[in-house]
Amino acid sequence: MQIDAIKAKSVQLYRDVVTQLNAIHIDHLERKWIAISMIILALMVGIIVIDAFFHGVNPPSKVETIDSASLHLSKEFAEENLGVQVDDKGNVVVRMVAGRYSFFPKHIDVPAETSITFRWVSMDVLHGVHIPMTNMSTMIVPGYVAEITTTFPKPGEYPLLCNEYCGLGHNHMWSNISVIAKEDWTAKPTTPAPATQGGSNNE
Ligand code: CUA
Repeated sequence: MQIDAIKAKSVQLYRDVVTQLNAIHIDHLERKWIAISMIILALMVGIIVIDAFFHGVNPPSKVETIDSASLHLSKEFAEENLGVQVDDKGNVVVRMVAGRYSFFPKHIDVPAETSITFRWVSMDVLHGVHIPMTNMSTMIVPGYVAEITTTFPKPGEYPLLCNEYCGLGHNHMWSNISVIAKEDWTAKPTTPAPATQGGSNNE
């Protein structure tokens, strides 16, 4: 009963709006430009929707907190745990720290055509990370872990850029990672870290 009333009301409202719009005199040229701007708007929204659903470009959704001031004391982001690791399920996980003005570790090797989970933290201020031609683009907010999963289709050197202004050295905050053919890549032996279980040390 109530739904019918709402339906009737919205139909009425729509009709009112249309009548009012028709009553306004809009210049022919202006009408054209309104149509063009609507098309541009639809195009932009379309690009966002396609990127989100088909290219995996999404904001990091997990709200995982960490104490930026004591990263070196945390289990997961202690120095010996940084870089590339393969967890017990066989997933490649990369842990990196952003700090003025570099990414640590300085250099990593990752396999191509493999799903890789990157976990980023900041040790000081707001940074960002962007790897052109991939879905890797995220803010690294101090106090939070930014997690993004990506795949590099081809071997090569990929640039790693900071894309959030973080101070005078911001322009120089960049690095690169080497992506090597899947068959040539071997996981570096890492000292087993008993307490590190793929990122469950929320604080
Ligand atoms: Cu770090 Cu800009």
